[in-house]
Amino acid sequence: MKVVMRKNHAWVYFDEKSSFYNAVMALKRKQQDGTNLYDMYVNEHRDAAFAGHRGPAFFAWHRQFLKSFEDALQSVSGKELLSLPYWDWSVAKAAPAWPFGEDFLGTNGRASDGKVMDGMFAYDTGHWNLNVRTNLEQPYLRRQFGTNVSSLPGFSDYWTTLAQTPYDKGPFWDMRSDSGFRNMAEGWIPGAEAGMHNRVHLWVGGSMLPMSSPNDPVFWLHHCFIDKLWADWQATHQKDVGYQPYLPTAGANSGHNLNDSMAFDLPNMAGQTVTPAQVLSHRALGYRYDTEDYLLPGEELYPGQWIWSASKNYLIWSREDRCGVSLNVSGGQQQPWAAPSNPPGPAGRACRLMLKNDGNLVLYDPAKGPNDPNPPWQSGTANRPVSRLRVLDDGHIALVDSNNTPIWSRPPPPAG
Ligand code: CU
Ligand code: CU
Repeated sequence: MKVVMRKNHAWVYFDEKSSFYNAVMALKRKQQDGTNLYDMYVNEHRDAAFAGHRGPAFFAWHRQFLKSFEDALQSVSGKELLSLPYWDWSVAKAAPAWPFGEDFLGTNGRASDGKVMDGMFAYDTGHWNLNVRTNLEQPYLRRQFGTNVSSLPGFSDYWTTLAQTPYDKGPFWDMRSDSGFRNMAEGWIPGAEAGMHNRVHLWVGGSMLPMSSPNDPVFWLHHCFIDKLWADWQATHQKDVGYQPYLPTAGANSGHNLNDSMAFDLPNMAGQTVTPAQVLSHRALGYRYDTEDYLLPGEELYPGQWIWSASKNYLIWSREDRCGVSLNVSGGQQQPWAAPSNPPGPAGRACRLMLKNDGNLVLYDPAKGPNDPNPPWQSGTANRPVSRLRVLDDGHIALVDSNNTPIWSRPPPPAG
């Protein structure tokens, strides 16, 4: 199954950033039913003040919204592995973590009116018109950093939010929840300052303030990080006693209970509804985050994708220039890991690494498919109870069972 890799934009090469930009612009140009495809997303969000916000479905609604947008970017660009980058706003406001540069999203708006004057989405230099507006807005992108709140959420806000349980709290299951992960992450905790998600919208200001906030493309990077926060929260708490990935099953406003329908009027979702229960697993939707140190059965590592160990001391990456997977040690040292030997891989052509459902790890030639009986490389672990491929912090690549016990592992090659 195809799994795209959503990366911190700070780790994304410029050509991937420009692929993202080009796909966004292509959606903005492509017309359907009298509007362009990008603006259909702005419209959908503008009309979802209650369907997608102020309640338990906040994460689920935005997950589906982002997934639909990512699919649209892939189909308009023809790049099947194109993925949303994310912006980790909890770290310092400096390069490389800062997306507001002239070479990417543009910097702060000018002092007089907040008009963004540089970067890829400047009205005066590009073709970025705000067509879906509230009556407060101008046709150009605006930002006013730090005007509405003085600071972005920080590292401790991030960890405090991640530690919150349960997922959400009654009796109202809305912005009045006095604690719980969802309301803290969304940013409405009564009596507290605007937090986390809300605070980032407020801090960027300008076009990020009204419900038409996807007018500022940083919306996608912000919400991609919010979606990652939900994924990280699930991974953090899944072994807690009484863990529930989502609450409630009943009692919240319509659209916000576990099995309620969420309707989307989007170009690639005509007439489809989705429930929160259907989007609980981001991996099942076909994407993973760059900080996740594992691959699941049925998933593949595509050329240009990598898996970090938890501490980022090691990574394996699938080569684009030839058939093979390399192991990198932090500091840039590079070693072949699963290099094809017998039989040799295809000359000059990238291969894919797949953890098959039967437990075998295969490096295969895309021209021959993952069921090739003589793939360029394989672990030979078919019919063993493999639950994950993991990159461990000591540099081992391991196939582990459901207790995280290695069934097969491969030490790093000798240095030198
Ligand atoms: Cu939103
Ligand atoms: Cu938002």
